[in-house]
Amino acid sequence: MKRKAYITSTGSYLPESILSNEMICEMVDTSDEWIQERCGVKERRILKDKDKATAYMAAEAAKKALQKGGISKDDIEVIIVATATPEHPFPSTASIVSEMLGIKRAFCFDVSAACSGFLYALNIGARLIESNAYKSVLVIGSDKMSSIMDYTNRNTCVLFGDGAGAVVLKPTNNGFGIGESLLETDGSGYQNLYQKAGGSLFPATADTVLNKEHSISMNGPAVFKMAVENMVGCCKNLLEKHQIQKSEIDYLIPHQANKRIITATADYLEMKMEKVALNIHKYGNTTCASIPICLDEWSSKFKNGDKLILCAFGAGYTYGSTLVTWNSGLEENV
Ligand SMILES: CC(C)(COP(=O)(O)OP(=O)(O)OC[C@H]1O[C@@H](n2cnc3c(N)ncnc32)[C@H](O)[C@@H]1OP(=O)(O)O)[C@@H](O)C(=O)NCCC(=O)NCCS
Repeated sequence: MKRKAYITSTGSYLPESILSNEMICEMVDTSDEWIQERCGVKERRILKDKDKATAYMAAEAAKKALQKGGISKDDIEVIIVATATPEHPFPSTASIVSEMLGIKRAFCFDVSAACSGFLYALNIGARLIESNAYKSVLVIGSDKMSSIMDYTNRNTCVLFGDGAGAVVLKPTNNGFGIGESLLETDGSGYQNLYQKAGGSLFPATADTVLNKEHSISMNGPAVFKMAVENMVGCCKNLLEKHQIQKSEIDYLIPHQANKRIITATADYLEMKMEKVALNIHKYGNTTCASIPICLDEWSSKFKNGDKLILCAFGAGYTYGSTLVTWNSGLEENV
């Protein structure tokens, strides 16, 4: 059977500090009721330590994945970090994570695809394994969204939180693992969701700081419409392309942007909510971390051979879906 990659273990890290809706109500004109009803968020986690950021959370999630899988750090050949809030503009956050984990000589790089970042990174990792080039790939999604949040802007600050999730990929020849995928980008709406300044077009100046152009800027309703259209669309196209019936899917693992976007995707798939990984109420939108955190929290439910559909939408616009046949590791692997 064709060599594939499978998720051999998962890990996640959530900062201890909770930012509740009640606390947000003291910062901006909003209400717990509005946030829960329109977004599905009750609270989010915030990394408060001034000397810790995206790489720290990524390394902590990775340590847990390695420990859970009984995998030595010395086995890791590739580290891919998906993030929208890198530790620095350069070098890559993955380089810093490799140092934090004490992993030498790995092939390390970041993936920038906003909220679809983990899905993009997972697919790159899987293809590296399928190509026979590597046997052990660490894929991490980590974001310190609080570092680019304007806590006076109610359009954005109610939605996002900090966190990280990680998976270790290994090869298998039992036909299970990371399967068909559909990843696309539509650049036409990039200005509806972006961090305007701090890159090469608008480097940091006193004005960019004063104008809060280093914080996330979002046209919520425009993004919402595209998110529903594309989360549903990429699941539909993937299933149709590979002639897979909705009834064959056991679990939906969606990016956690807004509960209403998740429900719309679940409705299309005719999936009961108990089969949909949901943690937006606890963590808000953790951007690249949301899918791997869900995988870590839900993996104990998955049985060997269960079919999962992972799907995401994010700034760019980036979006995609991936089928995973869960491999509990009980089958013979290569
Ligand atoms: C941001 C979002 C929650 C706003 O919800 P919405 O139902 O679209 O709300 P709107 O922006 O149309 O605003 C509706 C009303 O609520 C108000 N409102 C907006 N944010 C509010 C808040 N935090 N608290 C209370 N009221 C708020 C608006 O001012 C508006 O009032 P008005 O009708 O008097 O003008 C929603 O658009 C969304 O989730 N967008 C996608 C975000 C996303 O997924 N981003 C990441 C992509 S990966």
